[in-house]
Amino acid sequence: MAEPTVTTLLSAEQITERVRELAKAISRDYVERKLVLVCVLKGSFVFAADLARSINIPVRIEFLGVRSYGEGTSSSGVVQITHDLSRPIAGEDILVIEDIVDTGLTIAHLLELLGTRKPSSVKVCALLHKPARSRVEVPIDYLGFTIEDKFVVGYGLDWAERYRNLPFIGVVGPS
Ligand code: IMP
Repeated sequence: MAEPTVTTLLSAEQITERVRELAKAISRDYVERKLVLVCVLKGSFVFAADLARSINIPVRIEFLGVRSYGEGTSSSGVVQITHDLSRPIAGEDILVIEDIVDTGLTIAHLLELLGTRKPSSVKVCALLHKPARSRVEVPIDYLGFTIEDKFVVGYGLDWAERYRNLPFIGVVGPS
């Protein structure tokens, strides 16, 4: 069977430029604070790695592994933690790094969970937002791009665990 084509939605250059802008804003806003970047696995690993390297203030990096149980391609909001933070976050400023906010159910659940651990603040940085599918209102403090209701892959995002290593973001199949 022929390989499905991936049509570019956001090029590597567009992503790099936007990630630099986000990092600049974060570095400015969190100067002299205790910033902890919480990278939500697996989808955010590429975004978090690039973002972290563009942030020019001291940061601690933590990983949170989540698995959301969906109905087909949509999330149910029932989130299982597959890998927890390695240290307490009480009194620290948390920035959750998400690949994409789709229905918003996953991030809403994570904000609730992290809030119980008494951090000094919790904010969200998402590379992508699909407002058309929103089921719950969630604050996105730093946003890369708003996109249409299309299933996207690449730059960490997968389709059945494939395409995470593409350097750009695209849509599977012709546009
Ligand atoms: P939400 O709970 O519906 O906001 O979705 C959260 C998770 O679903 C994201 O962190 C992604 O891992 C996954 N997801 C949602 N939309 C897409 C997409 O278009 N491509 C790949 N993964 C997606």
